[in-house]
Amino acid sequence: MSSAQMSSNREELMKGLNHALNREVSTFLRYMLSAAKIKGIVNAPVRELYSAEVADELGHATYLADKIVMLGGTPELNPDLTPPADEVTEMLKYDIAQEKIDVEGYLKLAELADREGLAELKVRMEEQAADEAHHAEVMERLLG
Ligand SMILES: [Fe+2]
Ligand SMILES: [Fe+2]
Repeated sequence: MSSAQMSSNREELMKGLNHALNREVSTFLRYMLSAAKIKGIVNAPVRELYSAEVADELGHATYLADKIVMLGGTPELNPDLTPPADEVTEMLKYDIAQEKIDVEGYLKLAELADREGLAELKVRMEEQAADEAHHAEVMERLLG
């Protein structure tokens, strides 16, 4: 691989990591508000799920921010602050779709990391893809 190809791969990786960081920050802010908005015994399991996932997404965001710095970049925050839907079914449908987009994003990042020989990052991106796939599945079960 030429050095020009190498640097464009690295550039795409760094851009992708920052994009993923912003998606994670957007997600944990949205999930925090989703949990806050849900009331009533019927929807208590959905509230619990959103509360639990705030911590997962914050963990993903923290990993990405740390990694961007260790790879010589600067984390740049520009999160999407669109609030969650008022209705629980709409919340879940929207977030299932977003989680699936994140699975694809992390699998792509794993590929880019692999091409850079970044073994730990590759595995972590695959693990985060698996986490998001699990989130989507749990939400699909709650949606019924
Ligand atoms: Fe996440
Ligand atoms: Fe997730």
